[in-house]
Amino acid sequence: MDDSSDIKSCYVIGNPIEHSLSPQIHNAAYEVLKLKFSFKKKQVLTSELEAVVTKFKQDQVSGVSVTLPHKESVIPFLDEVDSIALAVGAVNTITIQKGRLIGSNTDIYGVVEPLKKIADLRGKRALILGAGGAARSAICGLKEEGVRVSVTNRTQAKAEKLAEEFSVDCLAMDSLKEPIEADIIVNATKVGMYPKVDDSPLEEKFLSAEHIVFDLVYNPRKTQLLRIAEKKGCTVISGLEMFIYQAAKQFEMYTENKAPLDVMRRTVEEIL
Ligand SMILES: NC(=O)c1ccc[n+]([C@@H]2O[C@H](COP(=O)([O-])OP(=O)(O)OC[C@H]3O[C@@H](n4cnc5c(N)ncnc54)[C@H](OP(=O)(O)O)[C@@H]3O)[C@@H](O)[C@H]2O)c1
Repeated sequence: MDDSSDIKSCYVIGNPIEHSLSPQIHNAAYEVLKLKFSFKKKQVLTSELEAVVTKFKQDQVSGVSVTLPHKESVIPFLDEVDSIALAVGAVNTITIQKGRLIGSNTDIYGVVEPLKKIADLRGKRALILGAGGAARSAICGLKEEGVRVSVTNRTQAKAEKLAEEFSVDCLAMDSLKEPIEADIIVNATKVGMYPKVDDSPLEEKFLSAEHIVFDLVYNPRKTQLLRIAEKKGCTVISGLEMFIYQAAKQFEMYTENKAPLDVMRRTVEEIL
């Protein structure tokens, strides 16, 4: 019989949290590798954040995934933030090492890894659509890989601010060429997300068969943008891949085991 005190705990915290797929994907991976871990979700209000995070440290929790709205506000309550999370300005992963809370960011890995599977990124040109949290991860990760990055956004002032912060180019949306002059196009806007599944951030005329189109939206799995891109002959990547790779990296940080990517992918596909 298992002694339940042997079981290591991990959590995902956010508000709201009901929608989170993290418990299913992590628990499926623990089960297949027969790891004595359990992953739970916990709704945390901003006013409770410091107390909850401090308690995780006392309870020696193995890992904490952080989702909206706490990715930035959790930073002051951590003992250390690694260089990647500092560059992005957001923490989505906390590990507890020698009693210290260490903040990291695996969203970058989620953007870069699926692209690296299909292309040598160094010297490529990427256009990022959007200027929110996901765009920050995409810009930071791709720049790190030697990609020449440009950013565009509905609210141009936000794109300009981001471009200045990360020293990348900023393009006005109405100045985009047909087709867009880039090797990689990343949709980091909310356009196309459920329930507005027929919306696309780009019309067909902006795409060509040479483009790699990565839509970070993962609900639905096949967005309108990806449908148009497929029709044009582009190479397409679903936001599901980002979700799986960022979770896989967290799994490896929490358990120190190699992530069973296929099991994690199958679990999310079944849920969605
Ligand atoms: N696959 C994954 O694991 C993963 C991880 C994180 C995020 N995401 C997805 O990435 C997307 C962005 O998330 P986020 O956290 O970056 O959100 P965010 O910080 O709220 O940023 C939203 C972005 O979408 C733009 N936008 C919203 N509605 C728009 C519209 N109708 N037309 C044009 N632009 C519009 C905003 O432009 P303005 O600045 O003009 O408002 C902004 O640039 C979401 O769909 C999210 O689900 C996926």
